[in-house]
Amino acid sequence: MQKTRNGLLLLLFFIAGGLAAQQNEIVIDTGKSLGQASPYIYGQFIEYMGQDIEGGIYDPESPLADSHGIRQDVLEKAKELAPSMIRFPGGTFVKTFHWMDGVGPKEQRRPSKNLIWGGINSFGFGTCEFIDYCRAIGCEPVLVVNLSTGTPDEAANWVEYCNGTENTYYANLRRSHGYEEPFHVKYWAMGNEEAAEPDAGRHQDPHKYVEDVWQFIKLMKLTDPSIQLIADGERGLPEWNKTVMKGLDGAVDYISFHGYVSTDSGRPLSIFHKIDQVERELREFHALMKSCSQDSVTNWKKWYRFPPRSKPLKMAVDEWGIWEYQEPPYGTTVTYEWRHALATAYYLNALLRCCSFVEMANWAQMVNILAPIRADKQTSIRQTVFYPLREYRKNTLPEVVSVRSISPEADKDLQALNAVATIDRKAGELVLFVVNVSPKAVKARISIDDKNAVSIHQVTTLTGERLDAANTLRQPDKDVVSIKTENPGRRLSDITIAPEAIQIIHASITK
Ligand code: AHR
Repeated sequence: MQKTRNGLLLLLFFIAGGLAAQQNEIVIDTGKSLGQASPYIYGQFIEYMGQDIEGGIYDPESPLADSHGIRQDVLEKAKELAPSMIRFPGGTFVKTFHWMDGVGPKEQRRPSKNLIWGGINSFGFGTCEFIDYCRAIGCEPVLVVNLSTGTPDEAANWVEYCNGTENTYYANLRRSHGYEEPFHVKYWAMGNEEAAEPDAGRHQDPHKYVEDVWQFIKLMKLTDPSIQLIADGERGLPEWNKTVMKGLDGAVDYISFHGYVSTDSGRPLSIFHKIDQVERELREFHALMKSCSQDSVTNWKKWYRFPPRSKPLKMAVDEWGIWEYQEPPYGTTVTYEWRHALATAYYLNALLRCCSFVEMANWAQMVNILAPIRADKQTSIRQTVFYPLREYRKNTLPEVVSVRSISPEADKDLQALNAVATIDRKAGELVLFVVNVSPKAVKARISIDDKNAVSIHQVTTLTGERLDAANTLRQPDKDVVSIKTENPGRRLSDITIAPEAIQIIHASITK
């Protein structure tokens, strides 16, 4: 009897030991590439909505604006965020936008009621100002086309205005506005959330969308065959997505997905579960893409007179972010707390893991509306979510490799640690991004297949004062986010992540 009990104890001891050995480990496999990390996942989005563009980016009445009405303090923060691309001018708003309202001498532009989001737009910030803004930041512009109240030739004329090099009316119009050189706008989105019934949407039937959008595509591509197009995909509508991909295959280069997340009341960790759900949906969408669209296009009708896409169809998550419904009417002037910064990093990890098919992503939106930057007439601030957006953009290396992490549960089906690794094989560099969503510090062993991964040469830790701490316009000089950078110069063998923190670890690997 005694013998059996001892045996049982011994067995329990080994099981417990085994479990303990399994715990808190981050296993990096540099031999298993997940794909290239596209810089275009670090895009932003601006819309004529509330004080995002007018009253945020552009505000001639603010003492902080230059002589063109551009808020210099906001521009400086945007530069710091360094988006790789900016999408403009909507959003739902685009369904009522006519680009000619926003070009030419400002005094001749036509102020009009914003029928979607309310207020009046002067359109003092139109196509040319947007291009100037992108150039000041050094990023790629993405223009969204009005498919609802616009026409195919209006869209094609916009392409000619932006990209035309010949002696044609709209290219000359751009020249007459002071822009001799073309804008080379490469990315054009074919509508926005076209399946939505409210507002000015008119494409609830995907077959109708395909039929209509073809007319736009033909004229736009004949105007400039080099442009790349983003078809309108819809989250949670596989039938829509299937019809669109099959109907437009070859003519478009990307399909969109919009992924906002929020927190369930009384369940602060629910936001992380929702991001996990987004990641699952992205993968399901990708499976659908594989089944509906070939990697290369054959049998393209030469009579189209423009070439088909030359690479596999990719996904553009061209609106993502955190929408908490805090304030009426739409809850879009969200004050982001530190927990939202954790969620932002957690979401970026998911986007990086999906790098083989997600090639673009745009945080929605850049200023004042669901935004990393808030501004009133007198000042501007960085919200908590600004910091992970900036730090990921700065530190991501070109290739994503496989990471498996084992850590205690912070909630049912939610691990404390969420990690992703990027590498630069040529430079012999690895960057590991780890988010600890739990209220406890977590120590984890690092296992890496690369025997030469010897030294951690930089660790940056982002923490918030409290989980609900927020930067606000009321206290513009107070910053609740701390960023600590250390240079430990020690082996990449274990790390300790502070409670509710983001850690970015640089280490050397074999060149
Ligand atoms: O970003 C705010 C709105 O959210 C956009 O206009 C629309 O595309 C989405 O539903």
